[in-house]
Amino acid sequence: MFLSTPFSDVIDRVEGTLASPDNVYERHLSAMAEMYEDAEAVAAAGDPVIYKVYEKKIPELAGELQWCMSVTLPGKIGREYYMTKGHFHEVRDTAEIYLCVRGTGYMLMETEDGQSKALEMNPDVAVYVPARWAHRSVNTGGEPLISFCVYPGDAGHDYGTIETEGFRKRIVEIDGRPAIIDNRPSS
Ligand SMILES: [Fe+2]
Repeated sequence: MFLSTPFSDVIDRVEGTLASPDNVYERHLSAMAEMYEDAEAVAAAGDPVIYKVYEKKIPELAGELQWCMSVTLPGKIGREYYMTKGHFHEVRDTAEIYLCVRGTGYMLMETEDGQSKALEMNPDVAVYVPARWAHRSVNTGGEPLISFCVYPGDAGHDYGTIETEGFRKRIVEIDGRPAIIDNRPSS
């Protein structure tokens, strides 16, 4: 039996960092270029950092809890806001909680059988992502969208279906405001 040692860490609500992360990664546009609708805008954008994740190293066991800080930077590719790649959990029957601590945006969610849901994220909003819902953070504001996330230790990440088919909805700027539109397959 694994027995974790208690620990704590400090969240920076402004930068979205953990004081002592075990793992940090930055997702650049080039790692998710095909997820944006506007290929010309992607080509013109260079290769900016779109989002960052700060994680603790927790055993991938069902009884443990993963935690991370998710920082989606402000910006757009064409009219489409910066967003995370989004994922299902590899173990589908695992949920997640996001507590937004800074910024403005949406948690965009969908199920494999076609349901979609977008919930607004603002500081102090906690979002419950049920089991079997893919989830993606979308930053529609002018500052970093930062959340503290907690999910089951063994959940894992499954990007596969998202990478090939995308989400059913996109969040784009129309007339200066965020709009949730259908994702049309590119021709
Ligand atoms: Fe997740």
